[in-house]
Amino acid sequence: MGIKFVSTGRYLPDKVLTNFDLEKMVDTSDEWIRTRTGIKERRIAPSEMATSDMVTEAARIALDRANLKPEDIDCIIVATVTPDNAYPSTACWVQKNLGLKHFPAFDIEAACSGFLYGVIVAKSLLESKAATRVLVSGAETMSRAVNWEDRETCVLFGDGAGVAILELSNDESDILSYNWAADGNLGELLIQPAGGSRLPPSHETIDKKLHSVFMQGADVFKNAVRWMADSAERALRDAGMTKDDIDLYIPHQANIRIIESTIKRVGIPKEKTVITIDRFANISAATVPIAIDCAVEEGRLKRGDIVLLNTFGGGFTWGAMVVKW
Ligand code: COA
Repeated sequence: MGIKFVSTGRYLPDKVLTNFDLEKMVDTSDEWIRTRTGIKERRIAPSEMATSDMVTEAARIALDRANLKPEDIDCIIVATVTPDNAYPSTACWVQKNLGLKHFPAFDIEAACSGFLYGVIVAKSLLESKAATRVLVSGAETMSRAVNWEDRETCVLFGDGAGVAILELSNDESDILSYNWAADGNLGELLIQPAGGSRLPPSHETIDKKLHSVFMQGADVFKNAVRWMADSAERALRDAGMTKDDIDLYIPHQANIRIIESTIKRVGIPKEKTVITIDRFANISAATVPIAIDCAVEEGRLKRGDIVLLNTFGGGFTWGAMVVKW
């Protein structure tokens, strides 16, 4: 039996923050942001909304599309670096919001690679019969985790949630290959320094804004291209395919120049690449499921298509997956 992405959904807050809005907040320009990153605008969640609320909205859409009821789900995995709380998990709040209980719900933290990691875990749970239908989400409220005075990071991120429902299936749909990896030696290059056991919240950590994103942008950039290209090529080889067999390429959306450099290395045409960074910016773990959902809705991803998913994030973490949709 294969693993099928039965349905997807996304939630993006209504509020749009454009590059021109950012020009009024920090010393930046629409021209700099567009040419260096490909971002034109991003979505910002309303203050009363937390990550689990966005996942719940996206989950309802995915359930409706598959004609499923919340009770048909028996496991929830949320990938996020911006959970509602340190504990309980965001997945537990989603379970409550959907009116469910008495099955496993937990978060995965693999930064921007979290959704791909979540799908790999869901695949194992389904194959081992530990679950029969898993809701996997990548979701972030990055607007609460950036320093709005730091022009080098605040222009890069946005808010939103993407969801996929996975189950075992007898039809042709399947995950044909995947790889996932991490290199914790490079953890310092992309980090939220405070708020955990290393540096608990204090007046000092707040004054120094250590509860926000710190990043060595150029190192992140180089490693992202290297490892996304490497893992994409490996996933294709493991599926017994070449780049020409792919109908669609869905990469993590961190920077249009990272995407362009990666597709050049792997030899994937831009027409086959899904780009959402212009509209939504980098939503960390949410970018891949949101881009999948956009592709489905726009008719670019259809049953039977071969899609290559590819990701990279803090940790560093990365991975790739070939899916027969
Ligand atoms: N507006 C205007 N100028 C800015 C700016 C902004 N928002 N942010 C940085 N600059 C300035 C810098 O201060 C620097 O000025 P200087 O030359 O006077 O020192 C100049 O622009 C160039 O900065 P640099 O860091 O070399 O730019 P870059 O072309 O490498 O792009 C990033 C910077 C962050 C866009 C790029 O490195 C990147 O995308 N890295 C990956 C980040 C990422 O994806 N993180 C999440 C990974 S999952």
